[in-house]
Amino acid sequence: MTKRTVPLLVGNWKTTPATLVEAVKFVKTLDKKLASAKTKSLKTLPKKSYYLAAPDIFIPHLQDVATHGYIGSQNISGVSLGQETGETIPSMIISGGADFAIIGHSEVRARGETSDARAHKVALSLQSKLTTILCVGEHTRDNQGKYLAELEEDVKQTLSLVKRDLFEHLVIAYEPVWAIGGKTPASTHECFEVVIALRRALAALAGIEYAKKVHILYGGTVTTENAKSFIEEGGVDGLLIGRASQDVETFEEIILSCHKNK
Ligand code: 13P
Repeated sequence: MTKRTVPLLVGNWKTTPATLVEAVKFVKTLDKKLASAKTKSLKTLPKKSYYLAAPDIFIPHLQDVATHGYIGSQNISGVSLGQETGETIPSMIISGGADFAIIGHSEVRARGETSDARAHKVALSLQSKLTTILCVGEHTRDNQGKYLAELEEDVKQTLSLVKRDLFEHLVIAYEPVWAIGGKTPASTHECFEVVIALRRALAALAGIEYAKKVHILYGGTVTTENAKSFIEEGGVDGLLIGRASQDVETFEEIILSCHKNK
C-alpha cells in the first residue's frame, strides 16, 4: 500500500458556526496563521493544507476567501435533476464552488439515510468527479470481530454502483460511532485493524491497484494530542475532525502538527 506523504486533514463543521460572518472570519484567520507558519517555521507546508466541510450556503463565500484550503459539503442528494423539493445535487454544489463532499456520516444515517440512498449519492458524486468522502463505522464492537465483516459489507454495498476507474476520487473515513462526539477515541491499534479490513473490501471490489488509490481517514474525538498518532501508527492517510476543527487555534495546531517532520 502506498503511504501518502501529504496528510489529508478534513474539518467537519457540522452545524457551526452560526453565521456567515463568523465562517468567513474563521477561514481568513486560519489562512493568515498558515501563511505565516509556512514562511516562518514550516516551509514544507503545502499551499493548500486543509479541507473544510461547511454548511452548503457558506460554500461559495468561503471558496472566495480560502486560499490555503479546500471547501466542501457535508452531504449531498442522490436524486435526479428536476422535481425534488429541498435537495442539493452534486452539479449544484460543484458549480457553487465545492471541492469535495462527505457522504454517509453517521449523523446523517441516524436521520434516516437508507443504504440505497447512500449508494446513489456516492455513485452520482463520483460520476461528477467530485472528491467523495464516504463515512463508515461500527456502533459497537463485539469480541468475535463481526463488526469488521459488517464494515466490509457496508463498503461493498455502498460502492456497488461505482466504476473502479472512479476510485481515484474516493476517500473512506473510518469513524467509529462510539468515538464521535465523546471523550474516548479509538486506539491506533483499533484503527489499524479496520484500515486493513477496509483495504481488503476495496481490493475485493476493484482489485489491489484501484484499492491503493483510495485514501483512508480516521475520525472520532481527534484532538491536538492524538492527531498525529493516527497517521503515524493507525495506518490512515488523514483525519476527519469534528469539534477540534470548530476552533481556529485548535484546527491550526492539528494541521501544523501533522505536517511537521515530513
Ligand atoms: P468529533 O471529532 O467531534 O468526535 O466528531 C467527529 C466527526 O463526526 C467528524 O465527522
